[in-house]
Amino acid sequence: MAMASTISDQELQFISQWTKESDVAKLRTHVLEHWKRMQESSDHLYGCMKSRNYLEPRINKFPAYQRLLKRIATENLKFLEIGCAFGTDVRQVLLDGWPAENILAIDIVDTYWQFGLDLFLDKTHPPPIQTLWADIIDDAVFDPTKVPSTPTNPVIGEQFLNGRIDGAFAGAVLHVLSAETVRALLQKVFAALAPGATFFGISLGITGTDDSFPWGVTPDGKGDKRVLHSSGSLKNLAREVGFADCITLEVPRPASLDTQEGSIWQDGELELMESKGITRVFVGFEMRK
Ligand SMILES: C[S@@+](CC[C@H](N)C(=O)[O-])C[C@H]1O[C@@H](n2cnc3c(N)ncnc32)[C@H](O)[C@@H]1O
Repeated sequence: MAMASTISDQELQFISQWTKESDVAKLRTHVLEHWKRMQESSDHLYGCMKSRNYLEPRINKFPAYQRLLKRIATENLKFLEIGCAFGTDVRQVLLDGWPAENILAIDIVDTYWQFGLDLFLDKTHPPPIQTLWADIIDDAVFDPTKVPSTPTNPVIGEQFLNGRIDGAFAGAVLHVLSAETVRALLQKVFAALAPGATFFGISLGITGTDDSFPWGVTPDGKGDKRVLHSSGSLKNLAREVGFADCITLEVPRPASLDTQEGSIWQDGELELMESKGITRVFVGFEMRK
């Protein structure tokens, strides 16, 4: 995890590539000032945002993404990101040559996207992709079975939904949601995907059990518990929703992330989890329709 006042050259590589600014010292100052402004804002910041995980894309590490990239030169593939936040990953997708008109990024709020425009210095020429600021589980704004489904932006309904998406990605999204919302999100993504298409991503999860574990509360003020899925519980859920298969990969989670999550756990939850021999890992997943 990045320390509050230090940002490595490696962490600045992507923003340098995107902005074409090679003066690393200048970028470091810009990133730090931007980060401080965000801390001072009244907007909710997730733990991974406080530790500046948004500086580096992670989508390029997924085999499912690499397989899709090999096809974009010859096929008109549609890409959906759920919970795009600052837009770091969709900017990587654009740099990788995916046509902008075939990319749809969704987030429940546009707050982080706006922070992203400031961060990536492209407010005057934002990434020319389709965006939708809506709760993906809300049928009124996102019903992937109806065309057109988004009255505010019929292009999205006509071009992207109703089984047209070839690849959907969600990075660090499932673990901020409740169990019911994760199920609803998977159902929405399933309906939006073309037959044979994949939904892939990574979330904080658990190992040492095949069950899921409730933790903290969602930041929407409803008081619902968030859920941490294990490989087993995520695979079961994917199957129940209708996915043909789901593979998962457990990735060790550095202990340094404890401070990032510190305030999310509620009284006794962490101790209960540990008393059952359950530990936290990252769970990468790839679900095929
Ligand atoms: C922890 S952040 C992860 C952001 C980014 N994908 C990353 O990897 O750094 C979770 C994101 O999911 C978004 N989100 C939460 N609930 C959502 C929902 N129901 N529909 C769409 N986006 C949602 C949040 O606004 C936030 O941007």
